[in-house]
Amino acid sequence: MPSMVHTLPASSTSDPSGAVACRPMAGTTHVFQAPKGTRDFPPDVMAVRRHIEQAWRSASIRHGFDEIDGPTFEHLDLYTVKSGDGIVSELFSFRRSGGDTDYALRPEFTPTLARMAAAKGKSLSIPTKWFAMPDLFRAERPQKGRLREHRQWNVDVLGVAGPEADAEVIAVAVAGLRGLGLGPDDIRVRISHRGAAAGMLTALGVPAERIADAFALVDRREKIPADAFATQASELGLDAAAVRRLDDIATCRRPASTPPTDLAEEHNLPPDSVADLTALSTELDRRGLLPFCDWDLGIVRGLAYYTGTVWEIHDAEGTFRAIAGGGRYDQLVELFGGPTVPACGFGMGDVVLALLLAKRSLLGDTTASLLPRPDVFLVSSGDEDAEALLVPMATSLRDLGLHTRHTWKATRNIGKQLKEAAANRARTAVILGDELKGGAVVVKDLDSGEQHDVPLADLPAWLPRRLAGADR
Ligand code: HAM
Repeated sequence: MPSMVHTLPASSTSDPSGAVACRPMAGTTHVFQAPKGTRDFPPDVMAVRRHIEQAWRSASIRHGFDEIDGPTFEHLDLYTVKSGDGIVSELFSFRRSGGDTDYALRPEFTPTLARMAAAKGKSLSIPTKWFAMPDLFRAERPQKGRLREHRQWNVDVLGVAGPEADAEVIAVAVAGLRGLGLGPDDIRVRISHRGAAAGMLTALGVPAERIADAFALVDRREKIPADAFATQASELGLDAAAVRRLDDIATCRRPASTPPTDLAEEHNLPPDSVADLTALSTELDRRGLLPFCDWDLGIVRGLAYYTGTVWEIHDAEGTFRAIAGGGRYDQLVELFGGPTVPACGFGMGDVVLALLLAKRSLLGDTTASLLPRPDVFLVSSGDEDAEALLVPMATSLRDLGLHTRHTWKATRNIGKQLKEAAANRARTAVILGDELKGGAVVVKDLDSGEQHDVPLADLPAWLPRRLAGADR
């Protein structure tokens, strides 16, 4: 059994920090905190997550992708086979009490997707265009932009070997970010190629068995000081000149409007990968994506299964860690016992994205402004007739599909209830007051301040029309 597998005692829950919270004993009080690296989602924070998910789902559906999901935990082996050491060392893994099978909470979605595709075998539609928005779990050291649980949007195309599939998934990622208000001055898609990186490293003298280590080092280039990079590069067997060349490669970035052949001349890229990048450039151009993209030879990606184009999306200033990462993985479905199926896709996390949206003031004045606005706030004068009508009217309006609220406080002061309606950002208030004696209610538009007396019998037809803007 691998060393990172922990068996949890049945009567306790384990915090990733190692603290164990026991069952409270009768008569004692225990104060619990959420485990390190996890988040609580009170309504205003949840509204941000929904806002992000809406943009993700809308972009996926507009590009013709179907939503899928899988189990939250999988057999441990699914990840040890091909995800790479980085992710394997971050697994939350466990056994059922008394069981002998090792499981892991999913740290990423791609192995689940490849397993699902492999299980379909020859019946897998070509192309298959899937998206998912799973919660993922990684036992990372929590830090800005990196947590132990995050939500990740995954978009993948299976069955298309050509660059149109790579460009299509990049287009979906960019559309999702544009839907949230981000443009080419805010985000950059940084693109490279695993074959190009392997070719350059081999030419520098990195032995074949150290290429994966060299990828990991290049992947860390922006996260470690230049001297630490140089030391670790020399440990790969590179002389001082080769270390300098490696640093040049790892920091080489050009606008994607630059022909990849220019980069090839500068850095000795293998012809196959230059051809792939040139074809990708045409496909990006056809989709109007070149202004968002850069060639960046420092992008290699930490996961082991990528085989071709690789890319990440970063904030333009490079303040945060990656917002998204993806690439081509043409062998993974086959590795899981399926047919040979070329594939590419990406994952985009909600953590860095929310930080960037907040930094760019793209979450409204307050995050509460992202909460769904009530259509109606019912206000009662407290008279017998009004009180009798309040709950049945709320029920009928809700049956009509309107988001309806009323106070749960004891007060029947109309001014205070209108204040509560405004605090809830309700669009209208329906006031059950003296007008009820004449069979009418007052409808107040809380945005414009306009008021109308509306006969009770007309309200079910009048109010939805008014809210739809038809009566203005
Ligand atoms: P990844 O680069 O490991 O790729 O993750 C993708 C994105 O998820 C990252 O760029 C980051 O925004 C977010 N993310 C990852 N780990 C964390 C964390 N601990 N806390 C917060 N956010 C995080 C993959 O997972 C690939 N399976 C993506 C993929 C799909 N490739 C092809 N298809």
